[in-house]
Amino acid sequence: MDTPQRANISVIPTGAALGADVVGVGLAKPISAETFRQIEDAWHTHLVLRFRGQRLDDPALLRFARLFGELDKAPIHAGREVEDPFPEITVMSNIRVDGKPIGNLGHYEAVWHTDMSYNEKCPIGSLLYSLEVPPQGGNTGFSNMYQAWDTLPAALRREILGRFCRHDSSRNSAGELRKGFSDIDDPRDAPGAIHPLLRTHPRTHRNCLFLGRRHNAYIMGLPLDESEDLLNQLWAHATQPCFEWYQVWKAGDLVMWDNRCAMHRRDAFDPDSRRLMHRTQVSGDKPYFDPKTLDLRA
Ligand code: OGA
Ligand code: MN
Repeated sequence: MDTPQRANISVIPTGAALGADVVGVGLAKPISAETFRQIEDAWHTHLVLRFRGQRLDDPALLRFARLFGELDKAPIHAGREVEDPFPEITVMSNIRVDGKPIGNLGHYEAVWHTDMSYNEKCPIGSLLYSLEVPPQGGNTGFSNMYQAWDTLPAALRREILGRFCRHDSSRNSAGELRKGFSDIDDPRDAPGAIHPLLRTHPRTHRNCLFLGRRHNAYIMGLPLDESEDLLNQLWAHATQPCFEWYQVWKAGDLVMWDNRCAMHRRDAFDPDSRRLMHRTQVSGDKPYFDPKTLDLRA
C-alpha cells in the first residue's frame, strides 16, 4: 500500500474575494491526515480551492473527496448506466455520442446558484475535475456569501433576520424544467425546501447569505410583490463583481467549492467544442441559523 504523502503544500490566494490554489500535492496518491487537515483549513478560509495539473482517475477523485464526508450518489441522468461502477461520479459535459448526451448541463450558461438547495439537506461541497476544456468560454464563477452578508446594508439585514426562503426545485441551473415537474408561474406555488436566508456555517460558525437561486424563489409569509422586491435587492447586492472570482479551466484542474457559503455559475461556450468534467458531491445537513453567532451591536 502507498504510504500517505506528507506533502509540503502551499496555499496561494487568488487575491479576489475567494479562491486559492493549493500547490505541492498530487491527489492521485493518498495524503496524510496532516496534509488533509491543512487542505480542509484552507478550504474553510478560502471557500474554493484549485489543484492544478492533477491526473486523477475516478477512484482517486472519490478517495480524496471521501475525506470530506459521505458522498451523494449521482441522480440517474443522461449518460449514466444503471450498472455504473462509480455511482458517486456525475459526468458534466456537452459531448454527445451517437447523438446522445454523455453528461449534464450541456453548453449553456448556468445562472448563479447553490447546488441542491431545494432539498432539505444540502451538499456541503462539490469537487469538479476537468478532463477536457473548450478553447474559450465555460468559465466557472464563484461568489463569497459571507462577504455578501457582512456588507449588506443594515436596513436589509434587519428585513431578512428570522426570514425563510423557499428554494424552487422545478428547474435546474440551466433553466430547464426537471423531469416530473410542471411549469409554475407563481413563485408561491413552487415546490422545494424552506431554509433561513441567513445561515450559520457549521464549521466556521460564520454567517452568510443563503439565496439558492433566483428563479421562483419566495420569502415565506410576505405578499408576493414584497418578496420579489426584497429578493431583487438581495440578489443585486450578492451578485456584485467584488464578491466574485472566475476559474478559467485547464485540463487537469480540480476545483472544490464550499456549497454552504459560496454560490457559483457558469458561462456558456461553443456547442461545437468539447468540455468534459467528472464531479462528485459531499453530502450535508439541513442549513440552520444559530442566533448566538449574531453580534447584536452590529
Ligand atoms: C456543478 C456546476 C458548473 C460548471 O457542477 O454543480 O454548476 O462549470 N457546474 O460545470
Ligand atoms: Mn452547480
